[in-house]
Amino acid sequence: MTKILMVCLGNICRSPLAEGILKSKLPQNNFTVDSAGTANYHSGSQPDQRSIAVARKYGLDISNLKARQFVVSDFDSFDYIYVMDESNYQNVLSLARNEDDKAKVEFILNETYPNQNHPVPDPYYGGNEGFENVYNMLDEACSIIAKKLN
Ligand code: 4NP
Repeated sequence: MTKILMVCLGNICRSPLAEGILKSKLPQNNFTVDSAGTANYHSGSQPDQRSIAVARKYGLDISNLKARQFVVSDFDSFDYIYVMDESNYQNVLSLARNEDDKAKVEFILNETYPNQNHPVPDPYYGGNEGFENVYNMLDEACSIIAKKLN
């Protein structure tokens, strides 16, 4: 079983989309995909309605996901930890206990644009087009991840 964790700040906009998209591209029997936020403000909440809507538009149902905060034991539970932006990266790395933990963390858009550390922009305070943009970026990156891991 290969285990992949998607991480953003609130775990209600970007990482639940990344979770739903990657899950849809991988066989469930061999892969676990989950998501978490570095902050706990939305713990227990379902994804933002705008993320649910854009996912639904592309045939994915993410309405049952529940936000949770990233925990140190996630370094043990997952093989790959994909972050959305620099702030997520720093927050997750600050919890790493050793080099093995650190080596699991990668910017998700480095799959699409290697070594550039491009962010998936936080769409929370913007309009619906931000969610559409995020969806397309994540879909492209997740296609590459799925091809690589499957
Ligand atoms: P996310 O977006 O990190 O993609 O889930 C955000 C959601 C909520 C907040 C910030 C970003 N917030 O400040 O409440």
